[in-house]
Amino acid sequence: MTIVSVWCRHKGDNIIGAGEGLPWKIPSDTKRFRNLTEGQIKVMGCRTYLGMPQKVLLGRKVMVLDASGKCEVFDKENHTVVSDINKLKDYPEDLYISGGASVYAAFFTNPDLRPDVVVDCVYGGEISVEAKEFIDVSVSVKALEQYYFKLPQQFELDGVVTSIWLKKGDFVEQSVVKRILQYMETEGK
Ligand SMILES: NC(=O)c1ccc[n+]([C@@H]2O[C@H](COP(=O)([O-])OP(=O)(O)OC[C@H]3O[C@@H](n4cnc5c(N)ncnc54)[C@H](OP(=O)(O)O)[C@@H]3O)[C@@H](O)[C@H]2O)c1
Repeated sequence: MTIVSVWCRHKGDNIIGAGEGLPWKIPSDTKRFRNLTEGQIKVMGCRTYLGMPQKVLLGRKVMVLDASGKCEVFDKENHTVVSDINKLKDYPEDLYISGGASVYAAFFTNPDLRPDVVVDCVYGGEISVEAKEFIDVSVSVKALEQYYFKLPQQFELDGVVTSIWLKKGDFVEQSVVKRILQYMETEGK
């Protein structure tokens, strides 16, 4: 199993969200998330799950983390609620950690669940002026800087600079890294 984490954080303050939603509108970033996670199991917290447009997740495999186990899924065939994150240790399939901040932190701070690969998208543009209740991933970025190294390639599109980070000292499945790099190299072309 390979664990991949994907996020888009704001440069300088590591903000990823405002309330239930995103404090920016970048269609190419949404498209990147969709394409990189296509056919893969996405793992997300209940708040992120309920805040995303249903059409983005319908028919796609999602595990919704919710300690209370009460999160209502809208696609019972493809979406499941997981109350104990430890059940995902040594999971037989690849997992794509998709937020929000509490879920990223739960994976990045647990040595047994720390992602192998991080798709680190950093947005350098303006945050929406109406946005409030900011949510950031500083805890996870601290772990990223401590436990990972950055590949030399960087990709820029619509004010978002994407870097790929790999966990230090562990074998990382090269086919997964290759697939991600191949997508990034052709993005926007
Ligand atoms: N920019 C991006 O890339 C990006 C990506 C995704 C989300 N976001 C943003 O992130 C924000 C939401 O983040 P958030 O931290 O508030 O909420 P969240 O992580 O999406 O969801 C919180 C939920 O996850 C559950 N959960 C978290 N860790 C758990 C664990 N270890 N075990 C079991 N359940 C667990 C919590 O359950 P309990 O409360 O019961 O413990 C809670 O119901 C939104 O603004 C969203 O737009 C941004």
